[in-house]
Amino acid sequence: MSATDKIVLITGANKGIGLEIAKQIASLKGHHVLIGSRDAERGVKATESLGLPNVEPLTIDVSSDESVASAAESVKSKFGRLDILINNAGVALEGYLNVPTTRTLLRETFEINVFGAAATTEAFVPLLEKSISPAPSVIFVSSDLGSLAYRADPQGLFKDVNFPVYRTSKAAMNMLALTFAQRFREKGWKVNIHNPGYTATEFNNFMGTGTVEDAAKGAVRLALLGPDGETGTYSEKEGVIPW
Ligand SMILES: NC(=O)c1ccc[n+]([C@@H]2O[C@H](COP(=O)([O-])OP(=O)(O)OC[C@H]3O[C@@H](n4cnc5c(N)ncnc54)[C@H](OP(=O)(O)O)[C@@H]3O)[C@@H](O)[C@H]2O)c1
Repeated sequence: MSATDKIVLITGANKGIGLEIAKQIASLKGHHVLIGSRDAERGVKATESLGLPNVEPLTIDVSSDESVASAAESVKSKFGRLDILINNAGVALEGYLNVPTTRTLLRETFEINVFGAAATTEAFVPLLEKSISPAPSVIFVSSDLGSLAYRADPQGLFKDVNFPVYRTSKAAMNMLALTFAQRFREKGWKVNIHNPGYTATEFNNFMGTGTVEDAAKGAVRLALLGPDGETGTYSEKEGVIPW
């Protein structure tokens, strides 16, 4: 790799939308992509499946502080910096639309979707500070199901889709992203929220209507923003999403 290649980390990139984001970014010149995977073997297999020279696996379980710290240490010793971080790892544990909002379900979901994204971002802040890019980029892969505006409107989009725990976790993730956006605004970082849309992946037993190719595009666009690009936004391919 060249000394000017941007180092990109995508969490939960061993399959689904994360793997496709990795593929699209790695296909562009000047990027070295770390395929984040909580399971080392799955990370190696996913990396091999891309057959590209500028990708490599990185073991990172976002629900474990030890794993996150060890991943950050490994990136620090190998590259000394990070230029683009994509917090993509996520779960929806409800399975059914009308399950009770239990403490256990909230804890397990927040552990990955919210605490995991927060801990990962914090752990990589020192390496993003060392970025060679004038506009280091952090992307939070959220969901339109996290929109308070949609949920507050009785006739709003997805009015019949309950998933209270998942929706609450993505709304919290959005606030988390906004706080990072504000914290690093003056430094020129681009911190944005991406909604991939309802996409056919294991996440929904491939019931989603969109393709991973389409779902990844917005995240890739945000990852490549320059100094004039936006920060603190919540968007999908059709444009901005109401908060
Ligand atoms: N698919 C959709 O319709 C849709 C819509 C809106 C938003 N999203 C969001 O898009 C993101 C990607 O979803 P997807 O559809 O690609 O789902 P997916 O195919 O199920 O992939 C999820 C990824 O997250 C990883 N992951 C789960 N827990 C983790 C942990 N503790 N540490 C690290 N990685 C972990 C999974 O790893 P394992 O393989 O080890 O389980 C997998 O790589 C999620 O944040 C999701 O909320 C998806």
